[in-house]
Amino acid sequence: MSQAVALVVAAGRGERLGSHGPKAFVVLAGRPMLEWSLDALRAVPEIEAIVVALPENARTPSGTIGVVGGRERSHSVRNALAVAPPDADAVVVHDAARPLALPEQFAACLAALEDADAAVAAAPVTDTTKEADADGRVLRTLDRRTLWAVQTPQAFRRAALEAALDQPDEVLARATDDASLVEAAGGRVRVVASPRENLKVTTPLDLRVAELLLAQRC
Ligand code: C5P
Repeated sequence: MSQAVALVVAAGRGERLGSHGPKAFVVLAGRPMLEWSLDALRAVPEIEAIVVALPENARTPSGTIGVVGGRERSHSVRNALAVAPPDADAVVVHDAARPLALPEQFAACLAALEDADAAVAAAPVTDTTKEADADGRVLRTLDRRTLWAVQTPQAFRRAALEAALDQPDEVLARATDDASLVEAAGGRVRVVASPRENLKVTTPLDLRVAELLLAQRC
């Protein structure tokens, strides 16, 4: 893959975080959360443009293309892809809620497209993981040696992502990541090992951990 465009989804409300404004703009180690991801992306030579899906009325960060996000995360990805420059043949999607992603993680996902339609950052699962029914009865224990906790960045051959997102709103609304849509369409998806530090800020605890880790970088 030669040139790539980055889509950063930052239009979530952050209800589980209990923040007053949108999550991507919560200040972390002195800067809005979104800015940490933008800095990492600006350091990746293959990335020629960055599109950010934003909440209504949010200011577009400098040097990026802003677009208003959609109702669910995948709708925001689709809105961002629709305004991305057409020449790039690879697309890397990233959640603004993962401010600890490093340039090398974006580059590694893009490099893995050599023999895949999509490549996702992921950490090996360390907890024993069980499947249970609605009453809490355990159905089975999964073999954790084969399990990965999937993160973003997720890199895609552009045609594969475009086809995966060309679906009714309700199908997209059920997808918790974009690679699962490529998998469902029969695409080849690879995991790229990534550290657990690339955590997603969802709860107040995540925010405290991310703040500590980012403060060490300053
Ligand atoms: O809600 P969650 O933490 O899973 O959201 C993951 C990412 O998707 C966040 O960066 C959030 O801002 C983004 N998102 C979005 N549009 C939505 C919902 C979430 O851009 N409608």
